[in-house]
Amino acid sequence: MEKLVLGIETSCDETAAAVVAEGRRILSNIVASQAQIHAKYGGVYPEIASRKHVVHLVPVVQEALSQAGIGLEDLEGIAVTAGPGLPGALVVGVNMAKGLAMGSGRPFIGVNHLEAHLYTPWVMEDQPAVEFPLVALIVSGGHTLLVLMTGHHDYRLLGQTLDDAAGEAFDKVARILGMGYPGGPAIQKAAASGNPSTFDLPRAWLSETYDFSFSGLKTAVLRLLKDKGWFAEGRAQGLDQKTLADIAASFQAAVVDVLVEKTKAAANENSAKQVLVSGGVAANALLRQEAARRIPQPLIIPSPALCTDNAVGVAAAGWFRLQAGQRSGWDLDAVPRLRLG
Ligand code: KG4
Ligand code: ZN
Repeated sequence: MEKLVLGIETSCDETAAAVVAEGRRILSNIVASQAQIHAKYGGVYPEIASRKHVVHLVPVVQEALSQAGIGLEDLEGIAVTAGPGLPGALVVGVNMAKGLAMGSGRPFIGVNHLEAHLYTPWVMEDQPAVEFPLVALIVSGGHTLLVLMTGHHDYRLLGQTLDDAAGEAFDKVARILGMGYPGGPAIQKAAASGNPSTFDLPRAWLSETYDFSFSGLKTAVLRLLKDKGWFAEGRAQGLDQKTLADIAASFQAAVVDVLVEKTKAAANENSAKQVLVSGGVAANALLRQEAARRIPQPLIIPSPALCTDNAVGVAAAGWFRLQAGQRSGWDLDAVPRLRLG
């Protein structure tokens, strides 16, 4: 009998549940995105996110179990994102996991959201088996970090963003350009018809470190718009579609350049056997293309749909911890600033 883990994810604006067998095979993957609700605020509105999780989580879990064709009694355990994330959003998932564990008598385990991003590729059967040491770039709306993994659950932080996360930069620049939320997919779409060499936007190389900085790039886009007289009433105005596409393409190229070159350098310096790229921004087509082209090590990237938040990685990460005999107790709390390792 395959051992099954139910994963639950409510750290931000996706309400998600998934059933994964043996940490490798996806039986169900349900994601109820609130992106459209938050779009009118130009970003995630925390109070609304929590309330939507309260409304959506039970049906999402029911759907995950039903698509997997199982009941709670068939589970080996339950895994839930305990942090980092929005406090009011996290507690909804954590409490749900406790309730299910209490009702079913099954063990449960709190999982780090970043670890869930890291363990997502393990459930993709078409990927090579994972080998250590590996260098992982986690790049999302809330995080941008480079991590050295020397074994399961063995992490060393190599560098991280000093200000905005890369996804946050996509979201902020998209807002400035009047493209809506989430910004990453909108910028990628606009950039497809643009020329990335049109505008020479800055790359914060921050030499001698694997840290990142993206706030200067966002400010440079704003300055460009203002200098050209293309900015009024808080957003881009009076520029044609071609110019908008060129700005989007130039911005996207600047972000991707820094992400790929730093990851490549970290992988070489640490003799990585593999490079893993995960998190919402890993869905970006240019990042995927350039990482594959410039990084010599075998590259492991989840399919675009598994890059953004989901519960598959939570179930997979939880399975590895449950296998190692780890359990959470009833005192498990949501930890909004939980760190990796
Ligand atoms: O991992 P994720 O779903 O949530 C967090 O943990 O933050 O990442 C969401 C972020 C958003 O900032 C979104 O704009 C970005 O990922 N994103 C993208 C793309 N798809 C999502 N950024 C660039 N290109 C994309 N195609
Ligand atoms: Zn995430």
